[in-house]
Amino acid sequence: MTSPYTLSISSLSGSYEVIIGHELLAQVDLYLSRVVEPESPLLIVYDERLENLGYVDIVHASLRNVFAQVHKISVPSGEASKSLSQAARLYETCVACGLDRQAVLVALGGGVIGDLTGFVAATYMRGVRFVQVPTTLLAHDSSIGGKVAIDIAQGKNLVGAFHAPKLVLYDVATLASLTPRDLSSGLAEAIKHGMIKDHELFFWIRDHANALVRADVQALERLLARSCQVKADIVSVDEREAGLRAILNFGHTIGHALEMLAEGELTHGEAVSLGMVLETQVAIHMGLAHEQVLQDLNFILQEVHLPIAIPASLLGKFQLAAVLELMRHDKKSVRRSLSFVLPKAIGEVVIRKDVPEEHVLAVLEALLPY
Ligand SMILES: NC(=O)c1ccc[n+]([C@@H]2O[C@H](COP(=O)([O-])OP(=O)(O)OC[C@H]3O[C@@H](n4cnc5c(N)ncnc54)[C@H](O)[C@@H]3O)[C@@H](O)[C@H]2O)c1
Ligand SMILES: [Zn+2]
Repeated sequence: MTSPYTLSISSLSGSYEVIIGHELLAQVDLYLSRVVEPESPLLIVYDERLENLGYVDIVHASLRNVFAQVHKISVPSGEASKSLSQAARLYETCVACGLDRQAVLVALGGGVIGDLTGFVAATYMRGVRFVQVPTTLLAHDSSIGGKVAIDIAQGKNLVGAFHAPKLVLYDVATLASLTPRDLSSGLAEAIKHGMIKDHELFFWIRDHANALVRADVQALERLLARSCQVKADIVSVDEREAGLRAILNFGHTIGHALEMLAEGELTHGEAVSLGMVLETQVAIHMGLAHEQVLQDLNFILQEVHLPIAIPASLLGKFQLAAVLELMRHDKKSVRRSLSFVLPKAIGEVVIRKDVPEEHVLAVLEALLPY
């Protein structure tokens, strides 16, 4: 494989490509015109933070070379924008711009923008097309697979749809402006991909951790190609989460609960990092995994500056009962039994829908206040 890397994903609504390379933003017109007719109206939905970085102008200018109607709208940065009120604002903008069913929404930003824009695309006029132009490392997970969603007060991603993009165009050059914290956060999902299905990827990340946290472009490009491939292979086999796709939830059962309770003080990747550590401890407690798995996991997470223990400043927010209650409400769990994806070894996990609460309590009780 040579740069740009192209992966093909099969989806129930047709296949689409993920293109990963360097300096692709200025060529977005070229790639988009392969899948969208020039007369289709476009709406670029972008993260407000990208405006000062110049990315919005590059994409807008490039698209105007080919497409007759190119509108744009900014969305405030942060998880709070994955909301019904921001979705309503975007529907109103679609109407005000005169967008019809031929329209294409262009999501320019991280997972927040991708999830929100995809959700609006899935529902506006019963569904219009959308493309993803991810600008965070974490979005390599969120932009592939067609899951789109917004949050409501009762939980993250509780209102959503399956709506595959027509194209994912990943320009690694945009990752240079990420904060070290957001870069590390994205590495959590790549480490998760290694944990669930690709032990070579896991140890490659460990051996290149330095280059990755320095945002070395070549290292990031190689990482994305491999990590996106893991996700692509899984969602191509099981787009609607009938079985295999559930393994992507490793680290997320506990991680989502912590993310909710932290009220913005943990990034998604930091919550997943803690979730992976705690869920691996559950696996060890159940006799499914060897202690070495936890040691390898802790080591790699620390190498990329992710948390492996709950920060003392957050302990007050994580009451044991509240964490358990959120996990029970997790939409992936069946009735009131706890559902987990648990590691057996690096690169191998099992889906368990019947985990007795005592194993989870044994791990959490040692860490969390009542
Ligand atoms: N749909 C899925 O399958 C899926 C999978 C994983 C995660 N997600 C969702 O993704 C979201 C998290 O994604 P995220 O971490 O990308 O969050 P994000 O979109 O909030 O981006 C993180 C931060 O980076 C900033 N930013 C974006 N691009 C930048 C750039 N190039 N340079 C500088 N700053 C930049 C943003 O303004 C924001 O402050 C969560 O809502 C999570 O639920 C969805
Ligand atoms: Zn995630």
